[in-house]
Amino acid sequence: MDDSIGWGILATGKIAHSFCRDLALVPDGHVAAVGSRRLASAEAFAAEFGGRPHGSYEELVADPDVDVVYVATPHVLHAGNVRAALAAGKAVLCEKPMTLDAATTGALFDEARERGLFLMEAMWSTCHPLWRKLKGLLDSGRYGRVGQLVADLGFTVHTAPTDRLLDPALGASALLDMGIYPLTFAHLLLGPPSRTAAVAQLSEGGIDLAIAISLAWDSGATAALTASMTAWTPRTATIATDTGRFDLAADFHHPLQAVFTPYTSAGAGRPETITPDEPVLGVGYGNEIAEVHRCLRAGLTESPQVPPAQTLALLRQMDAIREQVGVRFPVGR
Ligand SMILES: NC(=O)c1ccc[n+]([C@@H]2O[C@H](COP(=O)([O-])OP(=O)(O)OC[C@H]3O[C@@H](n4cnc5c(N)ncnc54)[C@H](OP(=O)(O)O)[C@@H]3O)[C@@H](O)[C@H]2O)c1
Repeated sequence: MDDSIGWGILATGKIAHSFCRDLALVPDGHVAAVGSRRLASAEAFAAEFGGRPHGSYEELVADPDVDVVYVATPHVLHAGNVRAALAAGKAVLCEKPMTLDAATTGALFDEARERGLFLMEAMWSTCHPLWRKLKGLLDSGRYGRVGQLVADLGFTVHTAPTDRLLDPALGASALLDMGIYPLTFAHLLLGPPSRTAAVAQLSEGGIDLAIAISLAWDSGATAALTASMTAWTPRTATIATDTGRFDLAADFHHPLQAVFTPYTSAGAGRPETITPDEPVLGVGYGNEIAEVHRCLRAGLTESPQVPPAQTLALLRQMDAIREQVGVRFPVGR
């Protein structure tokens, strides 16, 4: 246990619970402390996952047993929470999106760099062994040249208007919550696109409830990406090349397998099932946690699997998309 990495869990909402269920499966880390706006909530969380309960985020980041803080508040609060953790000298893993825009996020990475501290966005799917394997397979050229990528993530949201998923003041947005997954998938596999166009359905409060994004690359590839909070969408992905097609069943952002079907003008060939080379730890948050542990033990301040350049490129893209569809948050950054 001496060498085990101590996590400080900042907030006790839904994702904090899922994250800690997977943390329990990673051998070299543990919950050292948990902080909540309410002590009773921190105590209930600590009873389930262990760690020292704190009734404020300030006490959590100051806890000497915490090596790395996991920020799991609504997006709009991430910047302040990350700054507080960095000021306390802690490494940080911050939920996605890191903040509402690229400028604010860039300033956080600058601050972490100046302090010599680790900072990574919790874009866990990028650490998923199957996403990484697909990238390697496509880069090898063995499966042909990508011509088209299609990816979707959506579900219906039935929460109070004050919930973070619907409240503009908390950074609500189908793009920032769900669209970030198809965008990240396309970015990981094909790099930054040269052209982007988007349309969206906005709520009365002015947030995007559903969005459709088109991307084009100089290579000749195109992508059609969708995200929704108003419909039970397929949550699948396909990557079509000039020699066949990869199909990822739901949920494509943490898949169990992909199937490649070769095609010729004579028709479909025999499908090949592609599975990860490494174990998926829990739902997949475990692989992200293992990546943080690896970086901290190696003394890195940036993750090679979720580098700041990726986080910033995606936020710049989402800034431009929000501008196109007319979504402006009623809060600063
Ligand atoms: N990686 C993933 O798969 C994934 C999945 C879902 C969400 N997320 C991200 O994780 C973050 C949190 O999402 P969530 O679904 O866990 O949200 P949630 O269930 O609403 O929990 C958010 C927590 O933040 C704290 N909080 C502080 N100020 C708040 C405020 N004004 N309103 C609401 N909560 C406040 C609360 O914890 P205390 O009461 O303990 O202080 C609350 O329980 C978001 O940025 C989201 O994008 C990631």
